[in-house]
Amino acid sequence: MSIGAVVMAAGQGTRMKSAVPKVLHEIAGRPLVGWVLDALAGVRVTNTVVVVGHGAEAVKAVLPAQAKVALQREQHGTGHATQIGLRALDRSCDTVIVLSGDTPLLERDLLKRLVRSHTRSGRAATLVSAILDDAGRYGRVVRDGSNVRIVEARDASATELAIQEINAGLYIFDRAKLERALRRVGRDNAQGEVYLPDVLPLVGGDIGVLVSQNPDVVLGVNSRVELAECGAIIQERLRGRLLVAGVAMPDPTAVYLDADVVVEADAVLHPGTHLQGTTSIGPGCVIGPNVVANNCVIGAGTTALFAHMSDSVIGAGCQIGPFAYLRPGVTVEDGGKIGTYVEVKNSRVGKKAKVPHLSYIGDADIGDGTNIGAGNITANYDGFRKHRTTIGVGVKTGSDCVFVAPVSIGDRAMTAAGSILTHDVPAGALGIARARQENLEGFTERAEAKARAAMKRDGKRSR
Ligand code: UD1
Ligand code: MG
Repeated sequence: MSIGAVVMAAGQGTRMKSAVPKVLHEIAGRPLVGWVLDALAGVRVTNTVVVVGHGAEAVKAVLPAQAKVALQREQHGTGHATQIGLRALDRSCDTVIVLSGDTPLLERDLLKRLVRSHTRSGRAATLVSAILDDAGRYGRVVRDGSNVRIVEARDASATELAIQEINAGLYIFDRAKLERALRRVGRDNAQGEVYLPDVLPLVGGDIGVLVSQNPDVVLGVNSRVELAECGAIIQERLRGRLLVAGVAMPDPTAVYLDADVVVEADAVLHPGTHLQGTTSIGPGCVIGPNVVANNCVIGAGTTALFAHMSDSVIGAGCQIGPFAYLRPGVTVEDGGKIGTYVEVKNSRVGKKAKVPHLSYIGDADIGDGTNIGAGNITANYDGFRKHRTTIGVGVKTGSDCVFVAPVSIGDRAMTAAGSILTHDVPAGALGIARARQENLEGFTERAEAKARAAMKRDGKRSR
């Protein structure tokens, strides 16, 4: 037996009220269809076809390179989508799993059980059902002795609507029997569509029904409300996994995780922590409150609070924030510090180097152990092009310096406060680039006398 899969992902999802195709709506940084494909990856499937239609190009763009795609130009229902998918499916697949791209909670275990129970039974079709307290708009499983059929909510009678067992929209079929049945299915329903569940009475013989023990795993997303509900369940799963693995969260409900995030044991995630993309957090880090980290690698024992960082690599034992902004391309070496009201972009901050207060560091290399004074700016843009600033090892810059790039400050050099450095400073030198201070002795007394005289004159005139 060789198993193929058809994932139906062509629908618009009108109830989402969105310009984005439904299966591209994201949960935990992954599109709905990505969750489905991830679950499928754990099953012995030799060929997968994703049926695309609405926003086909955009949907294709998020699929793995090896995914086979079939185009359903006009969406005439799930049966029609399946037909189109089957045409593209490898001929060698004699058994086919059909599933929807809008069921992000689907788990590998359920798919494995479906394959197992179907294979053992030798039936033409097995479908997955679940018992829901509120069956909503799901198709109802109508059992009549050993006969099973699905009635869509909009086509159901009052008695059928009261049924709590719903069609999960996940099936496995004998391919040849499914293809034959699909050719005979009509469109006699409220939507005038070809409904996939309508093949069930036509495939021949009894239909297997696998009732999912956990009703959550089959929830489909058809509206923003359902997207939010599934999102909450996935967040709980992701957080649960980290808690079990030894990550501390004083308030788990206030931590938001993307699917591919990695956090090591003994890290603490405080409320308002959003870990996104491929972010990984080393052991013993203290992250939050209020940190957004997108595609960042953070080494062991680093603390970050009130910070926004993306596409950056932060070493071990670093301090980030409060109120720090790390834009893409930043490397902070071990023991480095990016402090309060500091923005850094496309720069390297060396080992134990510190940028503690009120600075903009862009396109710069800062050497190990260097201390940047308060309020320093790298002027990296001349109005046309970006240039780099190089600051050596063990440098101490004064407060309120501007480095007009391209410019280079040598190792162990210093810069005087308030300097605008347009020329390189050699190693070990002090760079001063500001007007020299002049003190006017007795100025205040003279100024006061002048003012008094002027007031006297004005007073006489006005009388
Ligand atoms: C479907 C089932 C319903 C089941 C529910 C489970 C049918 C007729 N109904 O309803 O019994 O309870 O799933 O979630 O199958 N799609 C296409 N092309 C089309 C139409 C749909 O690719 O022409 C795709 C959609 O993008 C979606 C999936 O098929 O990913 C299911 O379609 P949807 O419109 O969401 O069906 P439901 O109303 O949820
Ligand atoms: Mg649906």
